[in-house]
Amino acid sequence: MPLLNEIEPLKQAALADLKAAPDLAALEQAKGAWIGPNGQFTALMKQLGTLSKEEKPAAGKAINAAKTELETALAECRSELELAAALPKEPTDFSAPGRRRALGKLHPLTQVTEDIVRSFRKIGFVVADGPEIEDEYHCFDALNTPADHPARDTQDTFYLAMPSPAGAGEGGAAAPGEGCQEKPLLLRTHTSSVQIRVMEQMKKAGKEPPVRIIVPGRVYRRDNADATHNPTFQQIEGLYVDKNVTVGDLKGTVEFVFKELLGEETKIRFRPHYFSYTEPSFEIDFSNALVKKLGKNWLEIAGCGMVHPAVFENVGYNPEIWTGWAFGFGIERIAMLRYGINDIRLFYENELRFLKQF
Ligand code: DAH
Repeated sequence: MPLLNEIEPLKQAALADLKAAPDLAALEQAKGAWIGPNGQFTALMKQLGTLSKEEKPAAGKAINAAKTELETALAECRSELELAAALPKEPTDFSAPGRRRALGKLHPLTQVTEDIVRSFRKIGFVVADGPEIEDEYHCFDALNTPADHPARDTQDTFYLAMPSPAGAGEGGAAAPGEGCQEKPLLLRTHTSSVQIRVMEQMKKAGKEPPVRIIVPGRVYRRDNADATHNPTFQQIEGLYVDKNVTVGDLKGTVEFVFKELLGEETKIRFRPHYFSYTEPSFEIDFSNALVKKLGKNWLEIAGCGMVHPAVFENVGYNPEIWTGWAFGFGIERIAMLRYGINDIRLFYENELRFLKQF
């Protein structure tokens, strides 16, 4: 068969092979089999040299045209297969709901604390902080709390085991109150210790009152956990020191903050009480729809009073010049009332189904 007649059938066979390739690897193979250095179509081109002068031009032209056609087909097949390889293996359902990333949020106690802090900031208070591991002096003595006060008992308070001073005998940890340690350390039982620390710091820095601080923070007591007690809980302490501060200032401030926190219709009342670091001292009760819902008229919420002169003396303030008030209350109690929570332990279990509700 003359060469010229072989071109068309060979080209058709090559085209069919290229188009039938199911993937890129198969296409490369087909390319090699036909137009690679050892391909069948290449072999045909090599035979051109054997043709006579008369046959050559027509055959050469036909072969070149066929080769161009094969190369174009190869490029087309390749880009089609590349596109197919890039498509997702499974069909995409564009109507399916998106996958949301779960956003964290603030713990309910943090939210309530921030609300309280926001209210106090409006009236010029700043947030202060102090150590949770405290010494007996700042937790009790400086607050005029006598050595026989029950809060100082090891049964009531978490003391830290301290090494005995050299020469005290067996060594190792010593219980507090055994006279081994001058300044026993403990987990603070209230945030009132920060009153002392702040006034001491200001004195040291040569800064005179006014002092206007609030102290949110964690406190610790040897309580067994039940629905209303937990060995650790949160308090907010407040302290205001200036000249001519009165119980009226205390009452007005407390009223303002609790109305902001618990609603405009909230009423408060002061009942006489005893705290060693205030004189006179009061307990604060409040009343609103939440309290009525619990079947009560009043609910105790905080302790407060006018700063005791002995406390001022302990930090080097002259009680003839300076006056002040202080208060302290638990944050869980407020959060439980606000959200209708009946078990304090829920705040500390970190169960997501609980936390997600706030
Ligand atoms: N520290 C008290 C407690 O933990 C609360 C308290 C009462 C704080 C009276 C005060 C205060 O600042 O003046 O129960």
